[in-house]
Amino acid sequence: MMKQIRDVLEKLEEQSTLEKSKKFNIAPEDRMLAITKETGELLNMILRLTNAKRVLEIGMSVGYSTLWCAEAIRDVSGQIVTVEKNPAKIKRAKENFQNAGVDDFIKIKQGFAMDVLKELNMQKQHGDFFDFVLIDADKENIVEYFDLIFPMVSVGGVIITDNMLYPEKYRQDMKLFSDHLKQNPKLRTITTPVGNGEEITMKLAS
Ligand SMILES: C[S@@+](CC[C@H](N)C(=O)[O-])C[C@H]1O[C@@H](n2cnc3c(N)ncnc32)[C@H](O)[C@@H]1O
Repeated sequence: MMKQIRDVLEKLEEQSTLEKSKKFNIAPEDRMLAITKETGELLNMILRLTNAKRVLEIGMSVGYSTLWCAEAIRDVSGQIVTVEKNPAKIKRAKENFQNAGVDDFIKIKQGFAMDVLKELNMQKQHGDFFDFVLIDADKENIVEYFDLIFPMVSVGGVIITDNMLYPEKYRQDMKLFSDHLKQNPKLRTITTPVGNGEEITMKLAS
């Protein structure tokens, strides 16, 4: 891995450890709430295995998960579109992307996920698809997000959803989401115990 990217990932991992230790009082809106390192490695490996190039992320925070994706696609001229509503986190993410040297292929969309997804759906041209998506924002609207995302994913594309198992406060929303996925014959899906529980969903047909 390029040293420039590794340095930023390691700095964010230290911040995440401090955040989880609860030794400091960090305001809720400033918390990174990042995926685990193991989940980052999983995303990175799936991107490489599937030769994905076009990535969509819902819930960027300060860009930790985005960086794991960027590292996997930088050598194949990939592109990332990522969505975040919090301007202070966007500012931090931009600094992280610049320090890692990957800012030129990451497009940040500031706003609410629902609005951005509807806008992306309307702009979609024939053949204009994402081949990898990470869903990691609010959980109440997760079924609606998925239904807006699914038509924009190429056949063979992968959708990863974080927090299927933890924290427990999301269990009910995630159970509804999981039941929703199981009713769709156009996909294959599995809940894995990696990190906070990662759902790996593959689109089989349009
Ligand atoms: C769990 S954090 C994302 C962590 C990030 N994926 C990572 O691993 O580094 C969720 C983020 O989604 C953002 N968010 C929550 N609801 C949102 C919404 N409706 N629209 C856009 N962003 C949202 C929050 O501000 C927060 O930064």
